[in-house]
Amino acid sequence: MNIEEIKAGGLPEHVAIIMDGNGRWAKQRGLARSQGHKEGLNSAKRIVAQAASLGIKYITLYTFSTENWKRTQEEVGYLMTLIKGHLRAEFQFYKDNGIKIEHIGDLSGLPKDVQKEILNAKKDTEHFTGTTCVLAINYGSRDEIVRGIKKLVENNVKTEDITEKLISDSLDIKDLPDVDLMIRTGGEERLSNFLLWQCAYAEFLFTDTLWPDYTENEFIEDIIKFQKRNRRFGAVPDQK
Ligand code: IPE
Ligand code: IPE
Ligand code: MG
Repeated sequence: MNIEEIKAGGLPEHVAIIMDGNGRWAKQRGLARSQGHKEGLNSAKRIVAQAASLGIKYITLYTFSTENWKRTQEEVGYLMTLIKGHLRAEFQFYKDNGIKIEHIGDLSGLPKDVQKEILNAKKDTEHFTGTTCVLAINYGSRDEIVRGIKKLVENNVKTEDITEKLISDSLDIKDLPDVDLMIRTGGEERLSNFLLWQCAYAEFLFTDTLWPDYTENEFIEDIIKFQKRNRRFGAVPDQK
């Protein structure tokens, strides 16, 4: 199938990816976990570029969770440096692909220099109109919901005004559409605190492929699998 045929089959508006398996990829090769993360970043760039060329509107990448602080100081430090260096150096990549960067997660809990690069990258790419790439950094879905509810309470929202829409809008990106397709690499079949609210009706695809080995071809195959799913949203299909 060529790209035009895939587009014609109906694209997911919002794809979210749990990019798992970097550490195991490195271990299999006798390398340090950091090498797995470095290779994982290359994989992320390939997939984001592919999403942009397909015309997918939103791609959200689980980059660093609120639970990942439990890792060694060395690994956390490496990841922060990798994220910071990438955002600082890769403006051209985002420009060439027309990609706008957004962030979800608790910015205030990140090192100051990482915060600065995220804010700069958002600002530098805000006028790009292609794919929006949402980076989930220091992100936990429960943390996002708790922070959202705090905002509502601070704004003295009345009980009768609380709706699903209002809660959605209190999350980190006000008008982020629900996830259509959630992909997790690395063999585990769990959400690990990612986008709990937004995945209410997502289609899930799990692959054993370790994230650094995940290719554009596998991504395309996953889009095609998504297109074959029968999404009912609680209704009975084809009922007139
Ligand atoms: C995912 O790969 C990347 C991050 C969590 C930052 P892992 O580092 O979790 O890789 P495995 O699961 O140990 O193989
Ligand atoms: C989820 O992967 C977080 C990211 C990919 C950033 P983890 O490797 O941290 O998840 P668990 O620990 O296996 O649930
Ligand atoms: Mg993992």
